[in-house]
Amino acid sequence: MLKRIAVKDLKLGMFVCEFCGSWMEHPFWKTKFLLTDEKDLQTIISSGIKELWIDTDLGADADENRVSRLKEEVDQATEYLLKLATSAKKIEKISLDQEVKQAAKLCEKSKTAVISMFNDARLGKAVEVGAARELVEEISDSVMRNAHAIISLARLKTADEYTYMHSVAVCALMIALARQLNLPEESVRDAGLAGLLHDLGKMGIPDKILNKPGKLTDEEFVTIKSHPEIGAKVLMEGSDVSAMVMDVVLHHHEKMDGTGYPHGLKGEHISLYAKMGAVCDVYDAITSDRPYKKGWSPAESIRKMAEWSKGHFDEMVFQAFVKTVGIYPTGSLVKLESGRLGIVVEQGTSLLTPKVKLFFSAKTKSPIIQETIDLSLLVGKEKIIGRESAEDWGFKNLDALWTGK
Ligand code: C2E
Ligand code: SIN
Ligand code: FE
Repeated sequence: MLKRIAVKDLKLGMFVCEFCGSWMEHPFWKTKFLLTDEKDLQTIISSGIKELWIDTDLGADADENRVSRLKEEVDQATEYLLKLATSAKKIEKISLDQEVKQAAKLCEKSKTAVISMFNDARLGKAVEVGAARELVEEISDSVMRNAHAIISLARLKTADEYTYMHSVAVCALMIALARQLNLPEESVRDAGLAGLLHDLGKMGIPDKILNKPGKLTDEEFVTIKSHPEIGAKVLMEGSDVSAMVMDVVLHHHEKMDGTGYPHGLKGEHISLYAKMGAVCDVYDAITSDRPYKKGWSPAESIRKMAEWSKGHFDEMVFQAFVKTVGIYPTGSLVKLESGRLGIVVEQGTSLLTPKVKLFFSAKTKSPIIQETIDLSLLVGKEKIIGRESAEDWGFKNLDALWTGK
């Protein structure tokens, strides 16, 4: 049934049919849609529109009884708070070394789970969101113990497992970034689930295109660009995920300057979660070996992203991201003032003073006895003077210095 209601009575879950008043005043290019995004609600409220039509067959009804609605809301809020209180876990932080083994097992398990999620979707089965949530919970705990273990391990992937491990990596990055942004724990999990599912739509892209070793033709890129909408459609058909998760799936390729896809949204119309998704997605993409391109080192990638950041990323989100992974992320090859080379194995109290495992002298061009130093304790005596390229030095398998493999 169509109902005319006041904007002040509009709430999430209603199906908006038409705005009353001049169409030029209303902020949406679409006038018929299910209202699921708090931001859209705020936009409508602040637009000055006074009344609108809703369809109660397609969405929630306007509740005439405000008292019963209030009680319902209080009950819901109470339930939420109790859940938060009982779910608050005490998790001890541990070193990279200590977490790496568990994180490696979790990465393997997660990859298998993501593969089966993608396969289910390919077969037209609903994605088992419950299983995905359990996985996110485990990844979230690993990130809590030591964020850099699973983030860095998930970065080390082969080109053919890229799509699946990329989902795991973006999940871990989203969780760490959400905590950096001080989001409540429930939202942290939601951000993680969004990361895990963000590229689900790639299951609908032919492998021939996805794993093409070279550059895509324009036509192939058009096909690829349908993956956000494919993913959203799959989830819409029978998976119970929040509007935020859906929004990341649909909008992780939007860019601040409006040149992204599928909708060419400009910054102010992109949700916080989608902005987070964009940053985490690109970071893990460019630090990984993919079928079409070799990965850049993490520190080099952060530098490049800072250069692109204006048109592509939200400035505040990108800065929080850099605080999360570091200017010299774990696994980066760095050169110190003393001429020694090392691998970053732990983030420090400041972004410029991580812990570094030294293994080589650039002066004598020979290995040295390995030792790990904490640059935050050596301020004024020793410091990083730059990133180095493992390739240029001919170093193979430097990651063994921190993965222990
Ligand atoms: P992906 O490989 O996971 O990359 C995700 C996003 O990271 C890209 O979205 C882009 O925003 C960013 N990105 C990745 N590599 C680079 C890079 O070298 N430079 C810059 N500036 N940004 C980079 P995009 O471009 O919309 O691509 C979406 C997906 O399309 C990619 O996901 C990948 O699966 C596929 N794709 C894009 N270009 C090619 C290509 O030349 N060959 C093949 N085989 N696939 C491609
Ligand atoms: C690399 O080859 O490792 C990238 C170069 C850099 O980190 O500066
Ligand atoms: Fe994508």
